[in-house]
Amino acid sequence: MLETKTERIVTPARNILGSLRLPGDKSISHRYALLSALASGTTKITNFSTGADCASSLGCAAALGAAVTRRDDGTIEILGSGEFKASSTPLDCGNSGSTMRMLTGLLAATPHTYTLIGDASLSRRPMERVRKPISQMGAEITLTDGHAPVTIRGGKLKAIDYTTPVPSAQVKTAVLFAGLQAEGTTTVHESVRTRDHGELALRAFGAHVDRSADSVSIAGSQALTAIEAAIPGDISSAAFFLCAAALFPGSNLVFDSLGLNPTRATLLDVLTALGAHIGVLNLEEKHGELVGMVQVNAPVNGLTGTTISGALSAQLIDELPVLAAIAPYTQNGIRIRDAKELRVKESDRIALVANNLRAMGAHVEEFEDGLDVPGGQQLHGAEINSGGDHRIAMAFSVAALKASGDTVIQGAESAAISFPEFYELLDQVAER
Ligand code: S3P
Repeated sequence: MLETKTERIVTPARNILGSLRLPGDKSISHRYALLSALASGTTKITNFSTGADCASSLGCAAALGAAVTRRDDGTIEILGSGEFKASSTPLDCGNSGSTMRMLTGLLAATPHTYTLIGDASLSRRPMERVRKPISQMGAEITLTDGHAPVTIRGGKLKAIDYTTPVPSAQVKTAVLFAGLQAEGTTTVHESVRTRDHGELALRAFGAHVDRSADSVSIAGSQALTAIEAAIPGDISSAAFFLCAAALFPGSNLVFDSLGLNPTRATLLDVLTALGAHIGVLNLEEKHGELVGMVQVNAPVNGLTGTTISGALSAQLIDELPVLAAIAPYTQNGIRIRDAKELRVKESDRIALVANNLRAMGAHVEEFEDGLDVPGGQQLHGAEINSGGDHRIAMAFSVAALKASGDTVIQGAESAAISFPEFYELLDQVAER
């Protein structure tokens, strides 16, 4: 949770119109920042995420011996050292679960002792899920009651065959990052195919990675080489604008150079199923990542309704708060199940979404693993408690666009964790 507390008033909109080019994908930025620190040579990245989370990954990379330079044109250059240096001070992961979990894997083969710390929110999040496989590989990992600080005493690693108990791309990536440096071939099996940016990033940096329908394997002792890359726009940031545009008949919003990796683009299918018109153009591939132009127009008669459960919930995990926040405005509502993971994100997102929807006058039913949000409800402006969680602040800014009266977002500054430009861009595309 951030220390400062700022409020932001979001007024209703009449329409959403315009075109946007968004800062780089958060998941890809983390992986490129961390791998470039281990690679030999200088990695040059354009459109790196502007969020505080990815700055935490870059800060850790620098603390581990990488030379990180920000050029005037926004390009980030990272000169890797091929190996990590010792750090006498703890490595600060801020609010970023991705940084903490992936670094645990990446540092596991280095013969030093590191301590990873985070803010109050990150220090409440479960770390046992990463301690277990990485310690099976041979590193000594210590937690406090399953939480950060994470202490890593690295050493010689052996490959493992691991099935993730909960679908998690962060855990999968941590195991692959450790596997890259282990003896033998490491395989991760998963019941739901989670985002595959870790696999694609490893390949981009020159590692050989094998994939089957439900597993990924990596041989150990592979060296990485620096890359030059332009990171695609973040589709999870676009999600707030896609959902906003889907609410207003007559809307027209275009995104240029948006990341469209199939393991991340499920929201486009859900919005289409709800009746929105989505067009995709100019598809190309960059370092294995699909990028394209996306256009969204709302249906004339409003969005219908849907159920999101099973594998869909895991694939849409970051988009569920905004889908729930717009659900009252649909005709038949949105039902979310199998999304218990939402309770251990930057906040308990199920509880906060339910409470904030109720504050805006909605009827909503909360379940341990999801929510039922009936449709056909008009919301009114209210005071929103973001809980210091970026996705809650942004999701309810979108709900506010169609509410009657103004909405006050408490802790609005938390949007900067992933998307500092959010409010400015919202004002740019919202017709008032
Ligand atoms: C991420 C994976 C997801 C997601 C997070 C980023 C990643 O978390 O919620 O915002 O970059 O791998 P889990 O892997 O824990 O589900």
